Amino acid sequence: MPRAASDVIVAGAGIIGASIAWRLAERGMKVTLLDAGGMGCEASWAGAGMLAPGGEIDAPSPFAEFCIASLKLYPDFVGALESQSGTEIDFQEGGAVELALDQDEFTALCARAEIQKALGIPSSALDLRDTRECAPLLRKPIAGAVYFSEDSHVDPRDVMIALRAACLARGVTILEGWTVASVLDCGGAVEAVGTKGKLSAGSAVLAAGAWSGNIGVSVNGVPRELPATVPIKGHLVAYSLPPDELRSIVRHHGTYLLQRSTGYLVAGTSTEHAGFDRTIDADIVDGIRSRAEDLCPVLGRYGPPIPWIGFRPGLESPETDGPCIRRLPDSNVWLAYGHYRNGILLAPATARRVSDEIAAGG
Ligand code: GLY
Repeated sequence: MPRAASDVIVAGAGIIGASIAWRLAERGMKVTLLDAGGMGCEASWAGAGMLAPGGEIDAPSPFAEFCIASLKLYPDFVGALESQSGTEIDFQEGGAVELALDQDEFTALCARAEIQKALGIPSSALDLRDTRECAPLLRKPIAGAVYFSEDSHVDPRDVMIALRAACLARGVTILEGWTVASVLDCGGAVEAVGTKGKLSAGSAVLAAGAWSGNIGVSVNGVPRELPATVPIKGHLVAYSLPPDELRSIVRHHGTYLLQRSTGYLVAGTSTEHAGFDRTIDADIVDGIRSRAEDLCPVLGRYGPPIPWIGFRPGLESPETDGPCIRRLPDSNVWLAYGHYRNGILLAPATARRVSDEIAAGG
């Protein structure tokens, strides 16, 4: 094996891989960040950027704790990225308003919110006036609403622009169009073998989202079985509105709305098991659009919205209800994938955990 050119190779330059690469480089490590396509061009580009344990968690688990811990890291994560990259990130801590359209929904929502409070997810019931203040666009008659004060959102595209600049400023080598086919661990060093040749390093991190399971790993010549990944497709749409129309995230069941500082309003979402099919399904888009416009009829004036799709990085057989973040036993290979609906939220905590472990020598 050639002499290691880097301390760490990170396969996958989405928000997870790039955050890990940046944090390792901050510690003075020499990092090579590889991506089969363009940096941050897949799920990290597609994501709405919901940082919202209030909408994602309803039972205690290590995953729930990890999500809440990662949300707490966000202000510092964004602050450090902004100052190291010199770019601004649209990060909004305006909370989320979850709507109940009838009394049964409101009873169920309040019961869930009580369980969530015990987990460390604060919320309070809102009266109609407060609800209108948080979401002036809302016109739907509602039975009640709960305000999750700590739910937030971030523009993941801004985060990726900042991560590229921060990685480059820290000397990370970013290689795009570089597909990693396999990682060979030969005891003490690893080699990434891919479409553009071979690269060696002390350690490797697999963080290629829905594509992670395509990477073969062997340790001292013995193939290792890794948790298999599956793409879970989602459609989103966006409307161009004047800014400041929606001060909080608005949620009802599987529908959410959030507005960027620029005015761009994102509505989601759908869930499909369709492999890596990139087709935009007009019926699914219409469904999201009609749910969004049912909550906020004024959106109809700004349509038709722009649709797009993304592939959430799912795990075929999750080991827990969260992502797979661990060192492959007896190797210098770390796994950091399977973040499914919460990759944007979990980037700070994942990067901290993986970079701490690698810096400590495992
Ligand atoms: N994070 C929300 C979603 O995956 O739709």
